[in-house]
Amino acid sequence: MKASDVPCPEWLKQRLQQHGGRVPFPTFMDWALHDPVHGAYGSGHLRVGKAGDFVTSPSLGDEFSGLLIHQLIEWLQLLAVRHPEARLSIVDVGPGEGDLIAQLIPLLQTALPDLLPRLECVLVELNPGMQIRQKQRLQTVESLHCRWCSLETLGEQPVIGIMLAHELLDALPVERLLLRDGSLQRQMVSLQISGDEQQPLLVWDEEPLSSELEAHIQVQTVRDGLNLPPNGAPEGWTTEWHHLVAPWMQQACAAMADGMLLVVDYAMEASRYYAPHRRDGTLLAYRRQQASSDVLRDAGCQDITAHLCLETLVGSASEAGWFFAGQCRQGEALLALGLAERLTALQQMPADQLAEALRQREALLRLVDPGCLGELRWFAFHRQPSAAAEVPEPVSLFLSEPS
Ligand SMILES: C[S@@+](CC[C@H](N)C(=O)[O-])C[C@H]1O[C@@H](n2cnc3c(N)ncnc32)[C@H](O)[C@@H]1O
Repeated sequence: MKASDVPCPEWLKQRLQQHGGRVPFPTFMDWALHDPVHGAYGSGHLRVGKAGDFVTSPSLGDEFSGLLIHQLIEWLQLLAVRHPEARLSIVDVGPGEGDLIAQLIPLLQTALPDLLPRLECVLVELNPGMQIRQKQRLQTVESLHCRWCSLETLGEQPVIGIMLAHELLDALPVERLLLRDGSLQRQMVSLQISGDEQQPLLVWDEEPLSSELEAHIQVQTVRDGLNLPPNGAPEGWTTEWHHLVAPWMQQACAAMADGMLLVVDYAMEASRYYAPHRRDGTLLAYRRQQASSDVLRDAGCQDITAHLCLETLVGSASEAGWFFAGQCRQGEALLALGLAERLTALQQMPADQLAEALRQREALLRLVDPGCLGELRWFAFHRQPSAAAEVPEPVSLFLSEPS
């Protein structure tokens, strides 16, 4: 057994046998995350938060929402003027534990009391196991109408508002590409059963790119000016290909009649993403706060993620009909939204609240820690309504001018 070969759980063995013994990596990743009985999210086994499997910014407390709200208020006020009668929706796609919406609701109540009757929250969650937990979480927050629906359903009656995709796109299944004898291959996941007594194993395997995948890569690399594989990449170099980002952007665009999309996710420029020295790509698994490159292990019990490529994200969004307003690192965004002022204000807290002040300080600093959440990038896009020339551009607190 090679170090990369791992025991295959019984449910996955049966699934693989039904599919001829091997599947492309995205199929494995989809089952491992979203199978309704065995998948990490599908079953609701995986927990987001300090006591769970991995943390996200909202799961650390309400410090993140307390800063983000300033940006949302600005965008909502702009949309309220532009559409004086319309309902305004805050759409959270991939809400996890529901923390972000649960924290934003009271902040919206305080900041925008006049707009409240026009506001609603829409949660777009693929996995029933997660939906149950989100409903429980939001039971405690009253006063703003919340509903759950799919992007397809929203596409039938597009909304006006703000769509949030917070650590969603890095959880979409990816193709895994491998350089072999000078050409890219598609990595597969295979079942290996050696003898009656042997534990079945999961092993990596490969096959030539399908013509569809090859065409997809060709079109996007030309569109976004990528060099894939990069010059000097060694034999065995691997990377990820986010084939589902483009269709997701199209669905998201169809779901919004007007408004903004804020994507917050781990991403890097193509020059870093597809660098010859990044020979193992960015694919990682998370479980009980431990990161591992062993993504085939314990299928259904760990999260699997891959960073995004900045250029292909923006290229796919633009092609879908989104207008790119700008991007920055989480630290820059949060500083522009008042992080430094928050830290300063903590010094004024009374001495008997020292413990709480220290907790808040730690939470704020974790949001910008360059070794973790500070790596996150914020991307803002806007829908261009048909009469674009008559509509003012969104004002931005943290973003550079739309290009
Ligand atoms: C990494 S968690 C992010 C949680 C949350 N946004 C946060 O930052 O705390 C990913 C969430 O997206 C959901 N999800 C994954 N793929 C999805 C999809 N295609 N559409 C909607 N939700 C999805 C998962 O079930 C889970 O709730």
